[in-house]
Amino acid sequence: MSLTLHIRPALGSNDRVDIVVNNGAGGETVIHPIWLRERCSLPESLDALTQQRLFEPPELPLDLAIISARLPEPDKLEVGFSDGHRSVYAVSALLDEIAGKDGIYARLKPRLWDATLDPVPSADWRRLEDPAALADMLEQYVAHGFVLLRNVPTTPGTVLEVGVRFGQVRTTNFGALFDVKSKPDADDLAYTGLALAPHTDNPYREPVPGIQLLHCLANEAPGGDSTLVDGFAVAAELERRDPQGYAMLARTPVRYRYCDATTELVAWQTPIEHDAHGDIVAIHHSPRLDFAPLLPPAELDVYYRARRALSELLTSPRFEVRFRLEPGDLELFDNRRVLHGRTAFDGKQGNRHLQGCYIDRDGPENLYRVLRRSKS
Ligand code: OGA
Ligand code: ZN
Repeated sequence: MSLTLHIRPALGSNDRVDIVVNNGAGGETVIHPIWLRERCSLPESLDALTQQRLFEPPELPLDLAIISARLPEPDKLEVGFSDGHRSVYAVSALLDEIAGKDGIYARLKPRLWDATLDPVPSADWRRLEDPAALADMLEQYVAHGFVLLRNVPTTPGTVLEVGVRFGQVRTTNFGALFDVKSKPDADDLAYTGLALAPHTDNPYREPVPGIQLLHCLANEAPGGDSTLVDGFAVAAELERRDPQGYAMLARTPVRYRYCDATTELVAWQTPIEHDAHGDIVAIHHSPRLDFAPLLPPAELDVYYRARRALSELLTSPRFEVRFRLEPGDLELFDNRRVLHGRTAFDGKQGNRHLQGCYIDRDGPENLYRVLRRSKS
């Protein structure tokens, strides 16, 4: 749907004008004068370098009005306000913001995937100095929620170099970097040879780690293949099959808890998380760590049925992409969308060693925006 902007006299007033956005399907929205005024980007309103405002919008008159407006050029809107301020706007920038098109996640819709995803989105780490290759990698990541990087040097610690390339590394009680290999007295089941069903990491943490990186240094043990599942695709399927159960998982806060000798982390999350628009933004699933509240039995019936259905879909071959990480491969995935797991391995028959770290979720979007800015 494409938006257009129009100017017309305000209803019931001779000295005011309305600036109206039409959605092309008969819908229209009148732009509030304060909304427009606080987007003024003239040098007296906005610091050119930081793009931060040089005035206090809450102090604007609440009865501010638009007294004149014209479009001297198709992309240029000139506006006079009732407090004497005059400003000028790029129409395309206003409409992009109104349409929610400003930003990589808004611009590039998630592409839901299942086991048929082929090829697996991947990029050559050595080529990412090239801005075009980097932009392509970021677009693949945003569309699928993950990407596999190849040819990452197997020097221990490199995962942190890759992490800082894409965002801020988030240190946790496991350290900035964690080694994933089987060890005695493991403080997490990840550090055993057990199979790990698809899960999201650390739902007990606030904030939940945004993006996880797992870098393979050695994979000589039998087993230990990696699995990924698109949580958004599974959630969409669950909603289709069992709307009542889906709604229950989207509104029931569940307690997640992690505890060891020095740490006790507790956070409440709905297993399916929506944003203020009602769109899915996250899935939290770690079946060894979730504790539903004591609801009336009929409600818990719905909850447990839905949890089982979700778990069955998440572990079904229909949705699971399975591959083997080779030394030098690094999987980078959105821990709020893509669930990860592994098959069991026998650490006595060979070495399996991954190094991991978390980075904040906004890093790739930031990088992508800056890349696009330098292009235009
Ligand atoms: C983890 C994890 C998967 C693997 O460390 O969080 O899930 O392949 N590891 O060992
Ligand atoms: Zn994990």
